[in-house]
Amino acid sequence: MQIMLDTRPYVGLESEALATYVFEEADPVQGLIAEIDQASGGLLGKLAKGGELTGKTLEFTLVHATAGLKAARLLLVGAGKREQFNGATLRKIAGAALRHLKSKSVKQIAFLVRETDANEDSAQVVAEGILAANFESDKYKTDKKNDKSVDSVALVGYSDAERAAGEKGLTRGRVIAEAQNFTRDLVNEPSNKLTPKILAEKAEAMAREAGLAVEILDEKKIAELKMGALLSVAQGSIEPPRMIVVTYTPPNPKPGAPVIALVGKAVTFDTGGISIKPADGMEKMKYDMAGGATILGVMRALAALKPTVKVISVVPSTENMPGGKAQKPGDIQTAMSGKTIEVLNTDAEGRLILADAITYAKQLGATHLVDAATLTGAIVVALANINVGVFGSDQPWTDKLLASAKATGEKMWQMPLDEEYREFIKGTVADIQNIGSGKGGGAITGAMFIKEFAGDTPWIHLDIAGTAWNDDAKPWLAKGPTGVALRTLVHLVMSS
Ligand code: BES
Ligand code: ZN
Ligand code: ZN
Repeated sequence: MQIMLDTRPYVGLESEALATYVFEEADPVQGLIAEIDQASGGLLGKLAKGGELTGKTLEFTLVHATAGLKAARLLLVGAGKREQFNGATLRKIAGAALRHLKSKSVKQIAFLVRETDANEDSAQVVAEGILAANFESDKYKTDKKNDKSVDSVALVGYSDAERAAGEKGLTRGRVIAEAQNFTRDLVNEPSNKLTPKILAEKAEAMAREAGLAVEILDEKKIAELKMGALLSVAQGSIEPPRMIVVTYTPPNPKPGAPVIALVGKAVTFDTGGISIKPADGMEKMKYDMAGGATILGVMRALAALKPTVKVISVVPSTENMPGGKAQKPGDIQTAMSGKTIEVLNTDAEGRLILADAITYAKQLGATHLVDAATLTGAIVVALANINVGVFGSDQPWTDKLLASAKATGEKMWQMPLDEEYREFIKGTVADIQNIGSGKGGGAITGAMFIKEFAGDTPWIHLDIAGTAWNDDAKPWLAKGPTGVALRTLVHLVMSS
């Protein structure tokens, strides 16, 4: 599907559907909507009077053959209260319009922005919303005869004078949404089609195509570097682990500028290991590589957006299996940093592989760290599937990320990391243990464990266990992988 700007007046545009949005106010028929109402001989006014057009959030009103418009259909999407309207709402509305019309087999859409929205930011969020909404998880369906797909979307409402701004926003939106869909494609792959080795190959192909430097550490190199925590998880599987390193270097690096490392958990399947998970729902653990996939998607976008800072991404990838060589509860492992770890639960494997990835990122010169991981079920208990859990060791760095989350419409919530929690992971026979001592705060103890390895380097941990996968479809997004945190991280790097 393509999305393009069309600066011709919307009235005369021949399209299968013209979509726009209506605010919830005493009289929703105002401004642009009043203009369409007049051209259509008062049709919209009648709908509003009858209560069929209220502007309530995500209300759909579809009318055919509206007088005064060349479009075959007119779709009005409720945008809620005008005072609360923002980029995040517009992104959702554009996505919801696409999915609504797609379900009705419409192939070609004109999306019209309201009178004050013909700017760069709106073009960006509309492109993001529409392209993300168009994503479907149907790669492995062989019967595509009932497939519905939209061929093209025209972004309308921009004058010739506003064209440059619109094009700029569209380009940026395309880059971000395509990266997000790249991530979602990876997350959808089942574990038999996406082993650590295959993930590394895909990362390498992406990096080469995007013009990024890439280095894949295989099991031999990982052993040479003494990444004992990563190896301890990998030893239970016949699939060898990989450490994927993709680097973006700006054209004119400034001396003394920050070097950001993005670290992503990529467990291509998490059975729990010897501390095995229950069968019910275990199939979902193919998405335990969502953090890594998100980071690779971010790198793909950055290659096109060209930030001024250097970004190193480090993605440790392994399976967590209960094979004959698997580590067992109580085993003691030595991480790359030299710290010893009592593995009390082999299902708390994400923090183990992140420990070595973070140590390696620091060795590569990172001054600022962010990790993204489907780390704990406890974050789902705390924040459900609504907010990403944010943990940070440095408040200014964490505040920057939270501001990026706000700016890009991703819900994130900061969690505490008080020193008192350190006690929970103190080891009995080794330096630390990989689970808390049964006093609750499971998402926090997971974060505390990773913090041990970040040390004094400003670090943020994003627990995306609850938000990386949608169990139910949303009007603006298909069921399945969400690509959450990608927009925030791209924004964070671009504003660093
Ligand atoms: N991959 C899981 C966390 C997870 C849970 C991701 C639900 C997505 C949805 C992680 O490796 C895990 O198993 N964590 C354990 C930690 C526990 C043993 C301390 C958990 O949350 O139960
Ligand atoms: Zn686990
Ligand atoms: Zn896991």
